[in-house]
Formats: sequence, C-alpha cells, structure tokens
Amino acid sequence: MDNRPVGVFDSGLGGLTAVRQLMEVLPNEDIIYLGDTGRVPYGGRSKDTIVKYAKQDMAFLTSFDIKAIVVACGTVSTVAFGEIEGKYGVPIIGVVAPAVKKAVEATKNRKIGLIGTVASINSKAYEKLILESMPEAEIYSTACPLLVPLVENGRINRGDIMIETAVREYLEPIKAMGVDTLILGCTHYPLLNDVIGHYMGDGVSLVSPGAETAYYVKRLLEERDISAERGHNAKYRYYVTDSVDGFSGAASMFLSKDVSGEVRKVDLSVYED
Ligand code: DGL
Repeated sequence: MDNRPVGVFDSGLGGLTAVRQLMEVLPNEDIIYLGDTGRVPYGGRSKDTIVKYAKQDMAFLTSFDIKAIVVACGTVSTVAFGEIEGKYGVPIIGVVAPAVKKAVEATKNRKIGLIGTVASINSKAYEKLILESMPEAEIYSTACPLLVPLVENGRINRGDIMIETAVREYLEPIKAMGVDTLILGCTHYPLLNDVIGHYMGDGVSLVSPGAETAYYVKRLLEERDISAERGHNAKYRYYVTDSVDGFSGAASMFLSKDVSGEVRKVDLSVYED
C-alpha cells in the first residue's frame, strides 16, 4: 500500500480527460495535476521545444514525493516519451499504447482514423504501434491544429459554428474512407466527444487516450503493490502556469466538482530542462 500521489501532466486542460477517468477507476488515489496553460499548445512546436517543456513538467512533478507519472498529453507521449522514460526514478505511463490497444480491439473493418496535433501526427507513433499489432490495418490520419485553441477557449458545444466547421473540415476525408474507429489522439479532443461523435455518426467508436490510460495506471499500481489504501480519502491538487481562474472554471465544469480552492500557479522556468 502506498498513499503517495500520482502525478499527471498536459499542456493544458486536455489531461483532465485522464484525471476524470482516474478519479472514477482509482477513487482512493491522490492526484497532482500540472497543466502548462501558459505555454499551450505544444503540438505545433519543434521536437526540441516539446522535449524541453516535457522535462520541466517532469522535474516539477518529481519535486513532490510521487509514485508514478501519467503523461496525459498526446504530443509529449508521441514526440518526447523516449527522452524522459526511465530518467526520473518513477514509472511513467504515456497515452499511445492504451489508445492503440483499445482501437485495435474496437475496429471490425480494420479502418482506423486518427487525429492529433501536428507533432503527434508527424511522429507516426500511433501508426507504428497499430501496425505492430494489426499489420493489415488501414490508418487514415490528419493533424487538427485549430482544435486545441478552440477547446482551451471553451468552444466545445454542439451548435457552436466555429467548432462544428473546424471538425467538419478536418474529419470529412477520414469519414469518407469509412473508418469504424477514430482515435482522438490528443487528450484535448475528448472534450469534443459530442461534436465529433455527432459528425462521425453512431457506427464509429471514439477512443479517448487519456481515459484508456487510467486502466493502465490501475494495473501498474496493482502489479507493483503501490495502490492507495482502500478508504483513503483522495486529495487533488492542480497547478497551472497561467491564470488560476481561467483554469478553475473550465476544470470545475469538466470534472463536475468545484476545484477552485485547489488550483495554484507555478513558475516552471526554475525547473531543470
Ligand atoms: N493535450 C495535448 C495532446 O494530447 C496537447 C495539445 C497541445 O498542446 O498542442 O497533444
């Protein structure tokens, strides 16, 4: 038994899709969340910059006595995972493998769509892993650079012309290929589940990498015998690098609980990159 917290980070709000599922699947675990809201989005930046930010995120989280870290960011998981894995003395879990496992299980016609940030799509990390377990899969991917800024600005609801237009622009070619499974390869995108699900139609399964990762974390904690005690009263702390108020409002809405007293601002520039 180990009541130390699990660290989770993303460039912004997207990692909350993992936190929400972690709260559900592991209700006794303390969580420390870092959203690098002052530097979001990561997905249009160079590999060097993404690695530098990821190392600062890791250095910040490992300044606490934590037992595992979830990289709840598709961009860091696809571009910088190799640069941080095994270097911080704690197990690190990325979102790519859990999402791929789910997509391969879900597809019937072996046509899988994939959307993500420019950096994630260019990395080919998802494709590589999908083809390892399903060599005959057809993968149709596209980068969607406008979706993260729209999500960060709260434009997530059906009927919002801006988000509906962007989703249609990006997804039309993928839909036309007849995919039956779509990996939302950036952890911000499941906040658009309604809009994307409606556009793609009922026959298409949407895979949320952040949410799938929660089950991996559960298994890892059990295997290492480092789960929190049953009955432990879980505590949550959130750190951001920009406005506390902006994040608190959106996070409270998304997690369906008031987090305002639990959000603090942090300066990551003092952490090792
Ligand atoms: N949520 C992130 C991801 O999964 C970040 C998007 C971004 O910062 O560009 O890629």
